[in-house]
Amino acid sequence: MRIPLIAGNWKMNKNPEQTREFVSAVKSKLPQSSKVETVIGAPAVDLEALVESSSDTQLKPAAENCYFEDAGAFTGENSPKVLSEMHIPYVIIGHSERREYFHETDEDVNKKAHQIFKNRMTPILCVGESLDIREKGETNKWVEDQVKAGIKGLTEDQVSRLVIAYEPIWAIGTGKTATSEQAEEVCAHIRKVVEKLYSEGVAEKMRVLYGGSVKPENIKELMGKKNIDGGLVGGASLEPESFLQLANYND
Ligand code: 13P
Repeated sequence: MRIPLIAGNWKMNKNPEQTREFVSAVKSKLPQSSKVETVIGAPAVDLEALVESSSDTQLKPAAENCYFEDAGAFTGENSPKVLSEMHIPYVIIGHSERREYFHETDEDVNKKAHQIFKNRMTPILCVGESLDIREKGETNKWVEDQVKAGIKGLTEDQVSRLVIAYEPIWAIGTGKTATSEQAEEVCAHIRKVVEKLYSEGVAEKMRVLYGGSVKPENIKELMGKKNIDGGLVGGASLEPESFLQLANYND
């Protein structure tokens, strides 16, 4: 059985002090990670504070990006090796904001996925279509291409541990959630793509999240869908109260 995963993505918000305050506000009320895994993706400048303050809690830290080399002359980048040494289990890659504003390509995303696994961490690989692509009826094809390019060359074992986040760009930060049926359709398609490339066993183990205006009011319905294993949450992950409501969606 796939363990549900509620992952916050703080984007470029909060400082180390606010990070510690957040963790201290949520830590006693989080679900057991064997029932629902909870993750916060924080800016690199906050990761040390996040790792330290969450070390004896159910909350797991994630980086929002990393480079695809472990070390070298890459000014401004963050090393996956160092993230791993900091005991960070997850790294978000290929977020649509990184693809759009920082020109991250499918090839970069793929190299990052390989390097993250090499460093014994797990990528949360984001894919998703623009409104234009959805209106043209090309969503499944677009997402399929992003998935195939992103996971190219990964082993069966790696793909079974991978997390893919389906985030339609038109639903991010807009308050416009995809309907649970729209989200389920694409998440199911992603699983099918992996089944065809690898096997049913691999596809059944891999977790697929939905992201885009996930909030306490819609989490239960999304989580009720067969192929949606969790949420990647921006705005609603910033406040302890709403993050806790999301994490405890089952109560
Ligand atoms: P919102 O939840 O703010 O729409 O952001 C979604 C997102 O981009 C998470 O990665």
